[in-house]
Amino acid sequence: MRLLIVEDYDELSVRAAEMVAEAIAWKPNIVLGLATGGTPGGCYRELVRMHRERGLSFAKVATFNLDEYLRLPPSHVQSYRYYMDENLFNLVDVKRENIHFLDGLTMDPERTCREYENAIKASGGIDFQLLGIGSNGHIAFNEPSSSFQSRTRVISLSEQTRNDNARFFHSLDEVPRQALTMGIATILEARVILLLASGVGKAEAVAKSVEGSVTEMVPASILRTHINCTMLVDRDAAVKLTMQSLSSQG
Ligand code: F6R
Repeated sequence: MRLLIVEDYDELSVRAAEMVAEAIAWKPNIVLGLATGGTPGGCYRELVRMHRERGLSFAKVATFNLDEYLRLPPSHVQSYRYYMDENLFNLVDVKRENIHFLDGLTMDPERTCREYENAIKASGGIDFQLLGIGSNGHIAFNEPSSSFQSRTRVISLSEQTRNDNARFFHSLDEVPRQALTMGIATILEARVILLLASGVGKAEAVAKSVEGSVTEMVPASILRTHINCTMLVDRDAAVKLTMQSLSSQG
């Protein structure tokens, strides 16, 4: 795993977008795995700018998002589908038929998850997976204690995650208790992984993931075993790393 420490959120967003754009240039029909939440917003803004100003095209790109809240319709402003439409899909030339999303309104979650796994396989697998990290070390919605062998499935959100995400809702009560998420084994099959972390709120999760034991209690720690994973973090998210001066060379 490669650790890259950059100055601040703006630099992190630009660097992340450059890495995504390079991947698209290398393979225009790339299969991208995408994350939502506060962290990748700046990266998506930068990708939209590159689309408008530099002609970066998503016309052949296929996307699979990591997760979706259970029982939120795509029209709900806090659904991850709505987030992606607003922050990226509606602003670039990605084809609607190439966008893949877990259906939060499914009546048969197991089948939806199985079909998602099959669709990823049928696409040839995820070439480039963008990830955020929860303050508890989760990746996608794989909460601590999720098996490293887990596949796409329904998960109950931890209280810490519901509290963290309450900032996007009117109240904690409104935050869904369950979600559909790609599994850890599913994520690890991506050929390239880029995890973004910004802010002091992520510092402990980053330190545990990079320097602690590889354990299912810190889901992101398994990324250290991936052959092509980069953790791109800003100074604030790196403050608890004991080796930060060595790793900042990147
Ligand atoms: C969202 C996702 C989550 C977030 C994580 C961090 O699709 O997969 O794992 O990446 O909860 O969220 P933010 O960026 O809002 O701190």
